[in-house]
Amino acid sequence: MKDLVINGTEKGKLERRSVPVVNIADVEREALKRIPKHSLDYYRSGAGDEITLAENCLAFNHLRIRPRFLRDMSTRVTATTVLGIPVAFPVLVAPTAMQRMATPLGEVANALACEAEGTIMTLSTISTSSLEEVAHATPNSPKFFQLYIYRDRELTRRLVKRAERAGYRALVLTVDTPFFGQRYADERNHFKLDAHLKMANFEEEDKEASERINRVEANLKSGSSGLAEYANSLFDPSITWDDIAWLKSITSLPIVAKGVLTREDALKALETGCSAILVSNHGGRQLDTVPATIEALIEVVDAVQGRCEVYLDSGVRRGTDVFKALALGARAVFIGRPMVYGLAYDGLAGGRKVLQMFRREFEQTMGLAGCATLAEIQRSMIVPAGYLLSKL
Ligand code: FNR
Ligand code: LAC
Repeated sequence: MKDLVINGTEKGKLERRSVPVVNIADVEREALKRIPKHSLDYYRSGAGDEITLAENCLAFNHLRIRPRFLRDMSTRVTATTVLGIPVAFPVLVAPTAMQRMATPLGEVANALACEAEGTIMTLSTISTSSLEEVAHATPNSPKFFQLYIYRDRELTRRLVKRAERAGYRALVLTVDTPFFGQRYADERNHFKLDAHLKMANFEEEDKEASERINRVEANLKSGSSGLAEYANSLFDPSITWDDIAWLKSITSLPIVAKGVLTREDALKALETGCSAILVSNHGGRQLDTVPATIEALIEVVDAVQGRCEVYLDSGVRRGTDVFKALALGARAVFIGRPMVYGLAYDGLAGGRKVLQMFRREFEQTMGLAGCATLAEIQRSMIVPAGYLLSKL
């Protein structure tokens, strides 16, 4: 038994592992007990009425798998490559900001978990461990760096150069965030970063930016979220697809366009030389009522026609979700909140547990659906619920 103090308040004695934790929903339940309310609301919430947030998971549940049997399932091979980089299974980690709110080692614990489980972590621009710190802790594992383009292009350029120098293997450019979506919970909480934490990527190399960021936090207007203020005053809302050319002029790293939801933007990403597309609605945190990503995926995959790799995130919680995304044309999926919850639940061990759960569930789904290899996971194996009845 351990006394758990949440937000300075004694919440009673909780036994750490009193309820067995066997799936992602269990991890989430345990994590929620351990995170202070303002951080919890930040991690958990979506934009607006959270319709897209809910739909991301529901849309997976509305798809049915048509399994094949008697195809020798004695071994299942989950290993693949993403941008030519080997991963043990097609589940990568999406960028989520400020992970030291979830666990003391923050992003470093996340990166160590990915390294141990053979997958790739994407570090957020607005992380609470610096990109160098994360790279130093995991020198042998490939990592991606998520980029927000700041109004201050010189600051952005320096960030990109540091990511290159530190060995990150791709830039994941978030295209859906000219500014933050409306997140009521953060507004109500006047959300801001805990005093002992920092936007670590700006601390050492960029004193001026760091001071500006702190000023933004200090100037917090009543009724709004400090982080939204941060993004709204520092991110460049004027960026267009033409800025990919600028980005390509300062880096040779492959660029992954994160947040594409339409065929039109998928074609833009291709035309402008992005190496891959991550179909994402930011976990339902930007524009509410945009489609669930598993729906948008089909449109994007059909537009791209194999000319670049396509990935998906938002709402992936199960091995069956991973299977459905791959069947509909994704090369891999990314997970956001499940990893944060794993870290909050049990630090590095919790992060590893989440990845192990995804791998086990996915491998089991492959076996029960009759796919010994990833190549055998085909679109014809997925139908919408009720589809077969509608043919009667
Ligand atoms: C995010 N996401 C995000 N995306 C990004 O490009 N940069 C970032 O810094 C963040 N930060 C962030 C924080 C938190 C708490 C969440 C939940 C999400 C979006 C993230 O990369 C991903 O798109 C979603 O989290 C995927 O949805 P699920 O897996 O959380 O449902
Ligand atoms: C978020 C930002 C950081 O979703 O992308 O909170």
